[in-house]
Amino acid sequence: MAQLWGGRFTKETDKLVYAFNASIGFDKRLLRQDIEGSMAHVKMLGKQGILTEKETQEITQGLASIQEDVESGELVIDESYEDIHSFVEAVLTERIGDAGKKLHTGRSRNDQVALDMRLYTREQVLITSELLTELLKVIVRIMEENLDTYMPGFTHLQKAQPLTLAHHLGAYFEMFQRDRLRMGDILERMNFCPLGAGALAGTTYPLDRDHTAQLMGFKGPTLNSMDSVSDRDYLIEFLSALSIVMMHLSRFSEEIIIWNSDEYRFIEIDDAYSTGSSIMPQKKNPDIAELVRGKTGRVYGDLMALLTVMKGLPLAYNKDMQEDKEAAFDAFDTVKDCILLFTGMLDTIKFRKERMAQSAMKGFTNATDAADYLVGKGVPFREAHGIVGRLVLYCIEKNTSIDALPLEEMKEISDRFEEDIYDAVSLKACVERRLTIGAPGREAMEKVLAVYRQCLKDN
Ligand code: ARG
Repeated sequence: MAQLWGGRFTKETDKLVYAFNASIGFDKRLLRQDIEGSMAHVKMLGKQGILTEKETQEITQGLASIQEDVESGELVIDESYEDIHSFVEAVLTERIGDAGKKLHTGRSRNDQVALDMRLYTREQVLITSELLTELLKVIVRIMEENLDTYMPGFTHLQKAQPLTLAHHLGAYFEMFQRDRLRMGDILERMNFCPLGAGALAGTTYPLDRDHTAQLMGFKGPTLNSMDSVSDRDYLIEFLSALSIVMMHLSRFSEEIIIWNSDEYRFIEIDDAYSTGSSIMPQKKNPDIAELVRGKTGRVYGDLMALLTVMKGLPLAYNKDMQEDKEAAFDAFDTVKDCILLFTGMLDTIKFRKERMAQSAMKGFTNATDAADYLVGKGVPFREAHGIVGRLVLYCIEKNTSIDALPLEEMKEISDRFEEDIYDAVSLKACVERRLTIGAPGREAMEKVLAVYRQCLKDN
């Protein structure tokens, strides 16, 4: 057992208690952030004359050597220490002697861990944003290639009106673009440095908190020492944003699973992103999409865990907060994997354009356009709606579609139908006449695509 405290104790900690209390098993992944924070702290202590130049140098070099050696594999993180902070300080003292014992001057593990988590999370926010950018690029590429790939649009999972694959994917561009913007918002709010808050009430040393904040790329120091050590809002915000990312990925996955089904056959998922069955030789399953959909529940769970841990905590630090890490790390890792794999799967999907267009021609997706046609001939919309309703019923009985019905039979339902009805209800016309911004018509879509391309360029 290796711990940073003990002076006040007369008995050894019970072994089970020690293990239950220890966090090194999971906070060891904060090593790099812990060292970065310590280096900034020491540099500031040197500048303020709290440490000598020699001590500052020795500590800095010692810390650098620890990081190097862990990265090269020469030094293995010893999990008999209580946490990563204790491990680093102990190895440092072992390596450089007494100067190492001065590292923790004017600092508590409470502000130290608050800083480490913030540094780690800040990096994860940026990585997530980059992964989302890659996904958005793939979406834009597919949109560009499918401006006239017609497909049915659905409401209630029933065919509604025809649109294009580009338009359908544009909806996901909007979702993931909002997700990406949320990363920027979180960064903006979280980018303040808690180091220097001490255990909860600041310190008596003349620390220069602006300096440490600046050294680590923060906008400035946090302004209340109690909040600094007990705030995990930024994690909750990030996990909320990640939950929304997962919700979007899960909806998209659900559509991919439906499109991949034998009944639809709109797409073919690449072999590299599918798996087979151990018993049914004919199977090619959309496992990646299903797993992404499944892992969404897990990320929601991580968010709920964190919200629940925090809800009853009095100010300031409480050990409950150590529980933030496993939930947060699990969410970070899960979402990164999901975005990455989903992007690869989407990038390699083959769209069966013929099949999509054929499907769009069935199910009376042009019924609204037939009604609009009658409105163009002077029939009030409500009346036109009734006429086309009867027309659809007639077609269902005859097992045919509006565009395949002879004009004489249409005229029996309404004499306002003329030869030009066939152009008006063709698949192409139904889509291409929808030209208001945000609609699927090609001209409208091209304007929107130009905005999307710009979003990706501005980054
Ligand atoms: N392992 C702890 C955590 O993750 C570090 C802070 C410990 N502070 C303390 N007063 N016990 O929260």
